Amino acid sequence: MSKIVKIKKLEKLYGEMEFLRGKLEICASCKNFVKGTGDVDSKILFVGEAPGRDEDLQGEPFVGRSGKLFIKILEENNFLRKEIFITNIVKCRPPENRDPSIEEISLFSKILKQEVEILNPKIIVTLGRISLGFFLENVKFKNQNTKEIVEIMDLKNKKDNHNELSLQKNFLNFKISDLHGKFFKISKNRFLFPMYHPSFALRGRKNLESFRKDFEIFSKDFLKIYEKI
Ligand code: URA
Repeated sequence: MSKIVKIKKLEKLYGEMEFLRGKLEICASCKNFVKGTGDVDSKILFVGEAPGRDEDLQGEPFVGRSGKLFIKILEENNFLRKEIFITNIVKCRPPENRDPSIEEISLFSKILKQEVEILNPKIIVTLGRISLGFFLENVKFKNQNTKEIVEIMDLKNKKDNHNELSLQKNFLNFKISDLHGKFFKISKNRFLFPMYHPSFALRGRKNLESFRKDFEIFSKDFLKIYEKI
């Protein structure tokens, strides 16, 4: 798909989010729907959870305190914000920075799935437990103890997914501490790289080191993975 077609399709998709104003309270009360931004031709898609106060005010993802840290570490690893694409699962701000609810994730899942289809990234980097949970919705573990993944089906290949029940079940099924900092092949042409959320990195030196280390692994191995696909 050409760049201009991707941009037009995304514009249309983001316009369609308006219908959620009547369905979810966070969409009736937010200042802005926070759309994805960046290079639509990038092969790397970063997916966060939901906008915070600064993102809601400015209408852009990852511009607040945790966002600034994320971008700083991204740049330390020689990636530029304008070279990647960044979006969130939920596009409206949950009040008091609470986690998005299962209902909110489920309703926004249709938008995210279409974003992934339009952008067609080779590598999806999930930021935090909620984003990871979304992409693990279809996961099959080879071994429940080691959490070695056999297969994660492509989102578009499974129709009846991301309903509230299946999401709920899935969120109980994994720990981010088992999965972060590694590449997982999730379909023929796509890898998943789970990371902690940058707000986790703001909570203490050890967390920051862990977040930095994941980025370093990502930056070191990304080309090898990219060339494999
Ligand atoms: N946290 C997120 O998950 N997304 C943002 O856009 C900002 C903070």
